[in-house]
Amino acid sequence: MVWKRVCASQELNEGQSVEVVHNGDVIAVYRHAGMLYAIDGVCMHQGGPLARGRLVDGTVICPWHGWQYELSTGNHAITCKPMLKTFGIQEAGGTIEVDLPE
Ligand code: FES
Repeated sequence: MVWKRVCASQELNEGQSVEVVHNGDVIAVYRHAGMLYAIDGVCMHQGGPLARGRLVDGTVICPWHGWQYELSTGNHAITCKPMLKTFGIQEAGGTIEVDLPE
């Protein structure tokens, strides 16, 4: 794993998200309710862009058909089934970094 810089802290304000592409994989990064999260950025239903989803009570809602995922686990919010990978994330020195596979 390697810590990859995603953006400057001020580029990800409360309620915002950014999308990162790493080795062909899309990762969605969020700041929600004072916490940072990084999960797979492609919806398991039909590939919707989760970085453009709405954030509600610790979940992201896919903008295409409304599937909901827990930000902390990547689980489907209704069935609790594991669906999306999650990644370590840290903020230090004004930078946000995600722990990604090499
Ligand atoms: S593509 Fe995400 S809910 Fe359908």
